[in-house]
Amino acid sequence: MINFALLGAGRIGKMHAKIINENPYANLKFVYDVNTESASKVAEENNAKITQTPLEAINNEEVDAILIASATPTHTEFLIMGTEANKSILCEKPIDLDINKVNECRKKISGKSNIIQIGFNRRFDNSHAKLQQARLNGEIGDLEMIIISSRDPAPPGLDYLNAAGGFFRDTTIHDFDLSRFILGDDPIEEVTAFGDNLFDENVKKAKDFDTAMFILKSKTGVLIHINNSRRAVYGYDQRVEIFGSKGMMISGNQTPTSVEKFSSIQTSSREPIYNFFIERYQQAYTDQLNEFIKTIKNNEKSKVTFDDGRNALILANAAYDSFNSKSVVKVDYS
Ligand SMILES: NC(=O)c1ccc[n+]([C@@H]2O[C@H](COP(=O)([O-])OP(=O)(O)OC[C@H]3O[C@@H](n4cnc5c(N)ncnc54)[C@H](O)[C@@H]3O)[C@@H](O)[C@H]2O)c1
Repeated sequence: MINFALLGAGRIGKMHAKIINENPYANLKFVYDVNTESASKVAEENNAKITQTPLEAINNEEVDAILIASATPTHTEFLIMGTEANKSILCEKPIDLDINKVNECRKKISGKSNIIQIGFNRRFDNSHAKLQQARLNGEIGDLEMIIISSRDPAPPGLDYLNAAGGFFRDTTIHDFDLSRFILGDDPIEEVTAFGDNLFDENVKKAKDFDTAMFILKSKTGVLIHINNSRRAVYGYDQRVEIFGSKGMMISGNQTPTSVEKFSSIQTSSREPIYNFFIERYQQAYTDQLNEFIKTIKNNEKSKVTFDDGRNALILANAAYDSFNSKSVVKVDYS
């Protein structure tokens, strides 16, 4: 049994707590959140105890693994604390919004052997992962294009926008990582980004984007197109396409059932696609935890490393450089 301490009991922390307790090999022992009320509620719902400080949870001898699901600016501090205590860590994305903080953290944890897995859950989605496998097996021949459409159902509120750190670093970071995952050992070398405020007043106030498009190019010449929106009236739109010399594969949107309705006004209509990430990526979040537990039990190397988190942030930063300079930016991973 792997005993967990959960740091952060907000929107995603609450979901992780439930997934941990549903896993036959895992047990949630402690919950810490600066908001004691949130921590108490999540602890109570999952038969865990709250702690008054993060270290009380991290350093507890019974705790094997830490799940970091707190606000983004706390991640590096908790990664360092967890590493010093030699605990396995599953840390939500992004590692941080500031590459200097990420580099500082990287220095402090370098040479340590504890397992660190970054929460890029989309890698564990069965359909997206099938595309990555197909690319590896050569099923679509030589990969030439990756096309990712990733659109949220509705824009978040101003408080979220002011704290989230910008569309590219908070949201597109998933798509940068998914592109890297599919490309494997073929690094993204060039980035072009466009961003716009087309419809949301809060996004405008926060000086952020509600609409964005990116063209990236890998070392071998694969072209990647990503498009993002903060509003899709039909739900959480998540589609990935890979195109190559032997064909194309599409990971499409999902609906709760496969029922299609035909009537006098419509043909082939379906119920709405899943509304947002917790529903759409339920299986992926569960398998992300399964992978983390397998890695601990078999003492394997992490499949989604700290450097995967760092490289996705570097791509997001390159995208901002491209937007600001109105030019194609060469990516510097050093
Ligand atoms: N992988 C995904 O699909 C996904 C989805 C949503 C959020 N996230 C990430 O998860 C993290 C949390 O996001 P959220 O949507 O749950 O946010 P949230 O605001 O709902 O929750 C954050 C929680 O962190 C707590 N917190 C703040 N400072 C803290 C501290 N010093 N110590 C302990 N707890 C502290 C807050 O009180 C809050 O309960 C973010 O990094 C976000 O980017 C990932």
